[in-house]
Amino acid sequence: MLSILQCMNCGRQYPVDEVVYNCADCGGLLDVSHDLNALRKIVSRELFDQRLGSLERPYNSGVWRYKELVYPDVDPDMIVSRPEGNTNLYQTSKLAHWAGVETLYLKHEGENPTGSFKDRGMTGGLTQAKVLGMTRVACASTGNTSASLAAYAALGGLEGIVFFQNKQIALGKLSQAIAYGATCVQIAADFDRNLELVREVGAALGIYVLNSVNPFRLEGQKSIMIELIQQLRWQVPDWIVCPGGNLGNSSAFGKALRELYELGLIDRIPRLAIIQAEGANPLFRAFQKEFEDYQPIHAETIATAIKIGNPVNYPKAVRSIEWTNGVVEQVTDQEIMDAKALIDAQGIGCEPASGCSLAGVRKLVNDGIIKPHETVVGILTGHLLKDPDATIAYHRDQLDSIKAHYPNHIHEVAPSVDEIARILSNGGEHELIR
Ligand code: F0G
Repeated sequence: MLSILQCMNCGRQYPVDEVVYNCADCGGLLDVSHDLNALRKIVSRELFDQRLGSLERPYNSGVWRYKELVYPDVDPDMIVSRPEGNTNLYQTSKLAHWAGVETLYLKHEGENPTGSFKDRGMTGGLTQAKVLGMTRVACASTGNTSASLAAYAALGGLEGIVFFQNKQIALGKLSQAIAYGATCVQIAADFDRNLELVREVGAALGIYVLNSVNPFRLEGQKSIMIELIQQLRWQVPDWIVCPGGNLGNSSAFGKALRELYELGLIDRIPRLAIIQAEGANPLFRAFQKEFEDYQPIHAETIATAIKIGNPVNYPKAVRSIEWTNGVVEQVTDQEIMDAKALIDAQGIGCEPASGCSLAGVRKLVNDGIIKPHETVVGILTGHLLKDPDATIAYHRDQLDSIKAHYPNHIHEVAPSVDEIARILSNGGEHELIR
């Protein structure tokens, strides 16, 4: 076997076919730990390049193209794949200029099958659920995980169960979970409490939990890093910038970069910048105290995807910051929605949480932490259509305490050619970035 489950704190090991999320001795989070010495002889840039554009499963997936780095021993017949990944990397000079850097790429994880990066994790998680012979899988979710779990459970022939907060669910996400046939449970509790509940219910009823506490999820999400570096022809950017909520991506990215480096697939490690919403910023607060004090908080932000006050992967995110010489920054809801509006107006589009990446780059440039000549890749985590209410309310300038600085107003006109011509003679709204 090339992989084993290993506690990140005390190093205790468990076989990969044991249902365990935290170390039985010390409670630490578990990693799927691979035998890098053995893998070094197997993997190469050429191997992964040969699989680009493959029409065969599982290598047609942007996760399983890197199977050796995700789950090397798994039987390909067990893999539950849509297929996911293969998302675009956009180079955008206008947004780069706005943020204050010369070179900015945006990797759009909203282009995954259910519209968020969660699919990369869920293919790993559902595959492991099948390996373990599970019949039911569950998660707590701010929306995207549930949409993804619902789809992958349906594809794998398992029952999907999703726990939601009973308010502030983005409609695009809720409609997906219902449509894909998951058992939907709305609970009068926030995400943090629902995550505790799903873990208790999972343990009591023998249901496999597929939140990002599940290390097989994170193995799939590592592929975001591998794929983007492959898209850059294995040239490493200076910075990777991503939103931080439950900190699964932050954890997966650090592990991926370290493994790529140890395997000799990259020659240096880029710096990771994790961006939190100001109202959901426990990692940022801890970072300011050099991680000596961590306090969960009650979270509030318009970016409901990351409305999380007690991220389960906090210790792994701290490790990622240490491994990558990374930083944590916070941005306001105003900054998030303005950045989103600019990404949207480029024809790229994203959901509010993803706005953190661009807003974060601009802030870190202003702070002098990212230098203008450095190459930056921002991760867009979810699709524009996930949260249409937030988009429309912004452009109508109807959001509490947020001013639409880049609105695209809807024109209401009488059915008259002259009236319409008068409106069209005024030009569009976004001269600033067009
Ligand atoms: N962006 C989007 C669109 C998300 O849906 C999430 C998390 C994040 C960013 C944060 O990522 O947790 O890896 O730090 N959404 C989860 C959910 C919590 O339930 O869908 P993270």
